[in-house]
Amino acid sequence: ATDLTVQELALELKLPETEVIKTLFIKGIAANINQTLDIETAEMVAQELGYEVETVEEESMARKVTEMIDVEDLENLQRRPPVVTIMGHVDHGKTTLLDSIRETKVAQGEAGGITQHIGAYHVDLTHNDEVQQVVFLDTPGHEAFTAMRARGTRVTDIAILVVAADDGVRPQTVEAISHARAAKVPIIVAINKIDKEGAQLDRVRQELTEYELVAEDWGGETIMVPVSALKGENLDALLEMVLLVAEVEDLHANPNRPAKGTVIEAHLDKARGPVASFLIQNGTLKVGDTLVAGSVLGKVRAMIDDRGERVQQAGPSFAVEVLGLSDVPAAGDEFEVFGDDKSARSVANDRSDQQRQTRLQQAMASRRVSLNAFS
Ligand code: GTP
Ligand code: MG
Repeated sequence: ATDLTVQELALELKLPETEVIKTLFIKGIAANINQTLDIETAEMVAQELGYEVETVEEESMARKVTEMIDVEDLENLQRRPPVVTIMGHVDHGKTTLLDSIRETKVAQGEAGGITQHIGAYHVDLTHNDEVQQVVFLDTPGHEAFTAMRARGTRVTDIAILVVAADDGVRPQTVEAISHARAAKVPIIVAINKIDKEGAQLDRVRQELTEYELVAEDWGGETIMVPVSALKGENLDALLEMVLLVAEVEDLHANPNRPAKGTVIEAHLDKARGPVASFLIQNGTLKVGDTLVAGSVLGKVRAMIDDRGERVQQAGPSFAVEVLGLSDVPAAGDEFEVFGDDKSARSVANDRSDQQRQTRLQQAMASRRVSLNAFS
């Protein structure tokens, strides 16, 4: 159970803190507003003050109320597609894997069209006669992923760790594992290039045990699927596992609210101005919405999906290219839609003040270090 402070409890009960402190005092507990109360004490106080205490299933709450999902969303949650990031060492076959998945699964009609590089691909998978959507993230250098990690939030729901069977665990494999771990993202291992001469599946399994990834058939809990991205072998099994893990993860969002999410990548286009790919993590983004991304103000002028088509709106887990920003945000920045221009502007201003402050502090800190170094 989660502990909470006197102040938080008072806020929850919509009562002055003094009421809570008084009640505690009567029960023989001396407390100030910053005092942490365990859940039993908090319940006792609430009951004393005439509240009916309802025990909420804590695990599901913890899962659902993340940085992107607010308490107000809980009533309106709907299933959303999983966001899957493909990670792994250089040349182990990440792009080939994504290409094969897309080639076999993306609507055939796309072949002649121009595919927009927005760093994310929507793929429709058929599973138990039901079409399920999966969003694959292809972030170069996993910039957004790294930025997310620094902030402790999650941009991806599942990581596919690609390890080439003829090369084994390499430095970036290890790095990918630690990124996924830090973000508390479940890892599915795709042991790739099984069609190759020198493929050694068991060697890969063995090496991965050193990083606490133990294959299911070795008595562990990590799903490992041998595949050949090049030949398209066993990809169905891999995708099946993706859907399975997604189901266990129980992913939800509230599509009926203003959007928020994360900037996957952004750049300045000579003709179109600032262009950013947004991953929508909650709510629905619409053309005409006013938003703040990092400290950048914007009004959505147009949205383009991964097939290069203009769309009017995009819901949870979808990624779209957005035009209409006043400047280029950074990969990993969060964005949020605001109901009116005025509050958006004031948030943007606050954020850029904050950023300036942080930069100043960082500059001062590094100066102090260098001064020390010379003294
Ligand atoms: P970076 O983006 O540079 O990190 O590499 P990557 O992980 O995206 O690897 P990529 O998909 O570019 O593949 C690297 C090389 O491995 C290419 O020459 C692929 O054709 C080859 N390759 C990828 N998958 C397979 C496979 O399953 N079997 C064989 N034989 N070759 C593969
Ligand atoms: Mg690649």
